[in-house]
Amino acid sequence: MIRICQFGAGRIGSIHAANVAAAGATLAYVVDVNRDAAAALAAKHGARVAEAEAALADPSVDAVIIASSTDTHADLLERAARAGKSIFCEKPVDLSMARVERCMAVVKQAGVPVLMGFNRRFDPSFAALKKAIDAGTIGKVELVQITSRDPGPPPQDYVKVSGGLFRDMMIHDLDMARFLLGEEPVEIFATASCLVEKRIAEAGDVDTAAVTLRTASGKLCQISNSRRAVYGYDQRLEVLGEKGMLEAGNQKPTTVVASTVEGVRGDKPLHFFLERYADAYRAELTHFLEVCAGKAKPIVGIEDGRRALQLADAANESLKAKRAIAV
Ligand SMILES: NC(=O)c1ccc[n+]([C@@H]2O[C@H](COP(=O)([O-])OP(=O)(O)OC[C@H]3O[C@@H](n4cnc5c(N)ncnc54)[C@H](O)[C@@H]3O)[C@@H](O)[C@H]2O)c1
Repeated sequence: MIRICQFGAGRIGSIHAANVAAAGATLAYVVDVNRDAAAALAAKHGARVAEAEAALADPSVDAVIIASSTDTHADLLERAARAGKSIFCEKPVDLSMARVERCMAVVKQAGVPVLMGFNRRFDPSFAALKKAIDAGTIGKVELVQITSRDPGPPPQDYVKVSGGLFRDMMIHDLDMARFLLGEEPVEIFATASCLVEKRIAEAGDVDTAAVTLRTASGKLCQISNSRRAVYGYDQRLEVLGEKGMLEAGNQKPTTVVASTVEGVRGDKPLHFFLERYADAYRAELTHFLEVCAGKAKPIVGIEDGRRALQLADAANESLKAKRAIAV
């Protein structure tokens, strides 16, 4: 039975803790600077509340889930790696490339496996689409379109510490672009505006963005991000290849469609990431347990985290410079 210590008892931490129990592993400890949040989550899953040092020093703990705030990831990655634990870390590794690279060196030295929380790679539809690309269903990939729009903007406190739209939100799409293109982007052009709420511009951020990526062989990818989609969480993929097209559409609570004299109506897409990617989070955790048991290597690792951050930083640079940037 794999025993896990989890850092972070917030939104995403609650999801991972529930999936640990459901997958048959043991949640041994919950660590959170908010003791009430840690106690509530630990009680729910029969775990104990602990301080980081004690939990990491416990030799019966095999693995660590880092689901705490972004600014804690790099430190906890290093401490867990030095303690010899298998690690599942939420995105991003850090907002600073220099810090990410220092952290990677420590992890490499320790030789422990790290799974990065790019959960969309585990979404059953997106994974099946990727499998179809790899099976040659549409031949050579030429053009990828990623639509990723939140139902509404986050609170201002979140915006201020998020690292900006490219590093906080688009980082998932930048990882998806690399995943689907199957080649590293070598050029990026980003343009963006603040159209949803003025307060986002006041925090120095944007809420609407369009990014184009190009690989060395000329494959293209367009990413469309918005912090507002009044019809729900809009998560769609389209991949055009020499022999056809692959699409993965939005998911809805039901498929019921009412056609009447007024028009045709159905459900809106699932509201947000906790609902839309519930299956992906479960599959991601199952994969992590296989990694912990030595039965699999992480399909998405810390180097993927570094690459996605590199693209996000280049997108910021492109936005400022108003021109394409070589990556
Ligand atoms: N992959 C995804 O789909 C996804 C979705 C949401 C969030 N995230 C990432 O997960 C992380 C957490 O996001 P969230 O939305 O759950 O945030 P949250 O604010 O709901 O939870 C974060 C928790 O971390 C705790 N914390 C802060 N410092 C800590 C420390 N030093 N040790 C232990 N706990 C500490 C906070 O008290 C809080 O309870 C972020 O890095 C975010 O980018 C990923």
